[in-house]
Amino acid sequence: MTQPKIDFNDRMLSLGLARVSEAAAIASADLIGRGDEKAADQAAVNAMRDQLNKLDIAGVVVIGEGERDEAPMLYIGEEVGTGTGPGVDIALDPLEGTTLTAKDMPNALTVIAMGPRGSMLHAPDVYMEKLAIGPGYAEGTVTLDMSPAERVTALAAAKGCAARDITVCILERPRHQDMIDQVRATGAAIRLITDGDVAGVMHTAEPAITGIDMYMGTGGAPEGVLAAAALKCMGGQIYGRLLFRNDDEKSRAHKAGITELDRIYSRDDMVTQDVIFAATGVTGGSLLPGIKRDATSITTETLLMRSKTGSVRRMIYRNPRTA
Ligand code: FBP
Repeated sequence: MTQPKIDFNDRMLSLGLARVSEAAAIASADLIGRGDEKAADQAAVNAMRDQLNKLDIAGVVVIGEGERDEAPMLYIGEEVGTGTGPGVDIALDPLEGTTLTAKDMPNALTVIAMGPRGSMLHAPDVYMEKLAIGPGYAEGTVTLDMSPAERVTALAAAKGCAARDITVCILERPRHQDMIDQVRATGAAIRLITDGDVAGVMHTAEPAITGIDMYMGTGGAPEGVLAAAALKCMGGQIYGRLLFRNDDEKSRAHKAGITELDRIYSRDDMVTQDVIFAATGVTGGSLLPGIKRDATSITTETLLMRSKTGSVRRMIYRNPRTA
């Protein structure tokens, strides 16, 4: 007998998702600034998995810690949840910015998105060229086919300001030097980040708070899908194109069901149905404060969002500290 289909009740599931994100952040708290990226990541992974398995969902991890043979937990394809609820796809990064956490640098987050089955691109673990801007601009105001300088000029025109009033966020990597030079030549400012491009993209959705108008550059493809899920809730545009360095990476894409290797994905191509999204600040940044601890309690702040309604909650959670 086939089971009746249970609807994806985004409203009811969202608080559970916040708990998952909070638990991962709290678990990594004692590892902030301790120089051990692996331990920080493992603590967040364990906590996220424990909490996910408490949710009444029949979940499958579609963006996770890696392929089954390289990640013992939260690997792509792992089934999570009690199995008694709706069938859902889950994209997660238990600690986005492992190095940021280990070095106590800004903008490390725990991140998780959930949607109905088939709602998110099964991006392989390869690089993705990304371009993102916040809400309020016509679709295609900037495109991946424009040069970095053209993107700045187009965004400044749409915003009604000069190029020098635009700030672009870029990951500081040698591969981006030419892009950085081109953006600088327009007069625009650049906020260089050492890691954490999910946060980098999310910054574009709240320019008044973060001061960032546009994100561009190459980073992880899984992080691209997570960022697309965030912008689907917050508003804003993101475009992504997968980049392959060798045949092994191409075969990863084929395995994930991707045939058109040079396709440009829009936000809604990467996230095709309504999703819910939660991110908790681990180290303080311009979007979210970091975890605060005193002798008796631990406090986190989580962004909890639903794309169906565009609702964005900031949830402050205080919990007594255990020994
Ligand atoms: P981790 O948290 O897994 O270390 O990823 C951090 C990150 O900066 C991502 O935000 C970004 O997409 C990716 O690494 C960039 O990759 P690379 O360090 O190879 O340039």
